[in-house]
Amino acid sequence: MTNKKPIGVFDSGLGGLSAVRVLKKILPEEDIIYFGDTGRVPYGTRSPEIITRYALDDMNFLCSFGVKAVLVACGTVSSVALDALRESFDVPVMGVVEAAAKKACEVSQNKKVALLATNATVKNGAYEKYLSSISSEYAFMGVGCPMFVPLVENGYIENSCKVTRLFCDEYISKLCDFCPDCIILGCTHYPLIKDIIKSSTKELIGPVSIVDSGEQAALEIKEFLSAGGLLNDTCHKGNVQYFVSDDTFSFCQSASVFLGEHITNVTKIDISDYSYKGKK
Ligand code: DGL
Repeated sequence: MTNKKPIGVFDSGLGGLSAVRVLKKILPEEDIIYFGDTGRVPYGTRSPEIITRYALDDMNFLCSFGVKAVLVACGTVSSVALDALRESFDVPVMGVVEAAAKKACEVSQNKKVALLATNATVKNGAYEKYLSSISSEYAFMGVGCPMFVPLVENGYIENSCKVTRLFCDEYISKLCDFCPDCIILGCTHYPLIKDIIKSSTKELIGPVSIVDSGEQAALEIKEFLSAGGLLNDTCHKGNVQYFVSDDTFSFCQSASVFLGEHITNVTKIDISDYSYKGKK
């Protein structure tokens, strides 16, 4: 059994590309519709009500393509609004929290797991709740990193970028006393600066395993589609269509650097045309 419909993926901006990069590798036959809500980024500094409203619009846009499943490649939306999305749409919706937390439990030896994420995600406590539902043995510490998303969205992603390194050191230093052996990148933007985070971590804490939430979620959606007989025909060459809600130029530039290929097929849409008005 195969299913030709595309997979929908969304984030507030560039972050969800960390999931797309993996999806392209592990599911090359799948068509993907990506939406980055660049006109309203960041989400992680906003209230749960606003995050939920934005996420409903984003889902509404993706559902206009008749997607077979949606990967919420945004830690903030996954933490705050996943239930609302599942209640409001009939299409299967997967987030990043559970997949990343499961992986963290697998790799942590000293059972001290840290989370770097947006303030909204840290405040919401979804990662912590999920980890403790797996086992009460895990100690957890979350650090909000509000400057990372603006830095990534503004293109400060090169490994040599001093300003990003400075903020990394500031955030990572908060974990020194806790001494985790595993750090979850709970915001999907952070893998775009993973090497800077890694190098800061190595210097300030020592060797730690880094869990990329977007990557883990991509692996999980593959399992889900495969179990449900929802994968596309393996003969098909998958295509990714990118949509954003603001200027396409800077998105194309950073996306091209991160994905390692020149991205040109990015379309700007007016997300207000897709305002969610309730379940039909
Ligand atoms: N990539 C989003 C996340 O995973 C970023 C949220 C934001 O826009 O602040 O949380």
